[in-house]
Amino acid sequence: MAAPTSHKLFSALNCRSNPDFSAPPPSFNRRLNSAAFYGPSAIILRFPPNCTGTAPFPPAPAETLSSAAISAEIAADDNVSAGAGGNGAVPVQFSGSVDSSSYSFLKSDGSMAIHAAERLGRGIVTDAITTPVVNTSAYFFKKTADLIDFKEKRQFSFEYGRYGNPTTIVLEEKLSALEGAESTLIMASGMCASTVLLMALVPAGGHLVTTTDCYRKTRIFIETVLPKMGIKASVIDPADVTALESALEENNVSLFFTESPTNPFLRCVDIKLVSEICHRKGALVCIDGTFATPLNQKALALGADLVLHSATKYIGGHNDVLGGYISGPDKLVSQVRTLHHVLGGTLNPNAAYLFIRGLKTLHLRVQQQNSTALRMAKILEEHPKVKHVYYPGLPSHPEHQLAMRQMTGFGGVVSFEIDGDLITTIKFVDALKIPYIAPSFGGCESIVDQPAIMSYWDLPQLERAKYGINDNLVRFSFGVEDFEDLKADVLQALEVI
Ligand SMILES: Cc1ncc(COP(=O)(O)O)c(C=O)c1O
Repeated sequence: MAAPTSHKLFSALNCRSNPDFSAPPPSFNRRLNSAAFYGPSAIILRFPPNCTGTAPFPPAPAETLSSAAISAEIAADDNVSAGAGGNGAVPVQFSGSVDSSSYSFLKSDGSMAIHAAERLGRGIVTDAITTPVVNTSAYFFKKTADLIDFKEKRQFSFEYGRYGNPTTIVLEEKLSALEGAESTLIMASGMCASTVLLMALVPAGGHLVTTTDCYRKTRIFIETVLPKMGIKASVIDPADVTALESALEENNVSLFFTESPTNPFLRCVDIKLVSEICHRKGALVCIDGTFATPLNQKALALGADLVLHSATKYIGGHNDVLGGYISGPDKLVSQVRTLHHVLGGTLNPNAAYLFIRGLKTLHLRVQQQNSTALRMAKILEEHPKVKHVYYPGLPSHPEHQLAMRQMTGFGGVVSFEIDGDLITTIKFVDALKIPYIAPSFGGCESIVDQPAIMSYWDLPQLERAKYGINDNLVRFSFGVEDFEDLKADVLQALEVI
């Protein structure tokens, strides 16, 4: 793009010029499946989209430049390209999507979480290191012909905030990179992701399989809402492969939907094995890997069709934002996306920014949380005032060997039972000085909760016990505080009881 003269100062000061958009971006292909229709310039979306205008500021006066040499260079350069973020009509642009091939050489998840879809494969054109937050509910077209070109898939554009947003796409691409997925769909919460997925992938009157231990609200949705659509569920123990085979034999199962590890007992499902079994019967497998994080467990590589996360937990990582996503092949994700566009659980672009920011430290946080939780699980298991510890990193865990095979770390949450009753356990929880008493997990701040009170309070004790939720159960999410401080805090609280 030829630059107006007002751009010269900026390019002389080495602002980055527009990247080459001559090749259609890959996920743009995936999303619209119609890249062949688009010419090279058509895929550059301006920020604000479709906007051209005049330079908002006059060029800086020459005397503000620090060097005569720079001034001379500016004067000599009449044909500089428009620097993104420069002083021109188009300070930020969006290319339609990001180029995933440019970061495929990265070997580590940490580098990927930081740079994918931004430093490498950036879809938004800007000199800012960080991704701009595009706060808009709708996108305009300069003229009706452009709108028709968009409708006829000859031109890429966003249209309405519920259908897409440039900031959100950067987040989705980053998550796809981490999950090793073709496509990702981010939504307003983890529950939004799971409910939309279940409704999109299990037909009315259909059947799904799920596990006994799982997030309570997911169970409530499966038991009380899906039956209104005639959808039935078989509920199996996470390790009971025979029960899975029987459920598949006896029903026309569309989907096996399970957490691994599960909430709150951190049971693990053999993802490779159950995927093979389900695929033989034509059923899909979706793993809610929230407790694992995409770093500790690669559900798609293990054979699952889809992976789901409550991004509210480790992905955001700062206890300040809600979101949920699914990743997998474009064909399946698109099926869910279509329903999501109707139901409308859209993530706000400001929240997308917080997730992008959270992802930059995911590997550091998770490394620390894995380490602290494992060390604390071992200490708790040895402690006389602790009756039982549930943590897949411990040899005493029923799926320890499996967890060792399919996970590279066991996460920051440890569940355990205090040797005592409801009141003794409350005493322990209240004596803790570092963790907040709160729901949720996975963030920087440690969080503790007593499920009998936090999420199962409305059920009588006997009902709770059916789900294994005893009065003395504690779920402890270790944050990124110093290990020694956390250890001292837990030990002093155990001394109190
Ligand atoms: C395993 C699991 N999946 C899904 C969810 C729901 O996520 P959100 O709270 O983001 O809706 C939760 C919430 O705690 C969870 O623990």
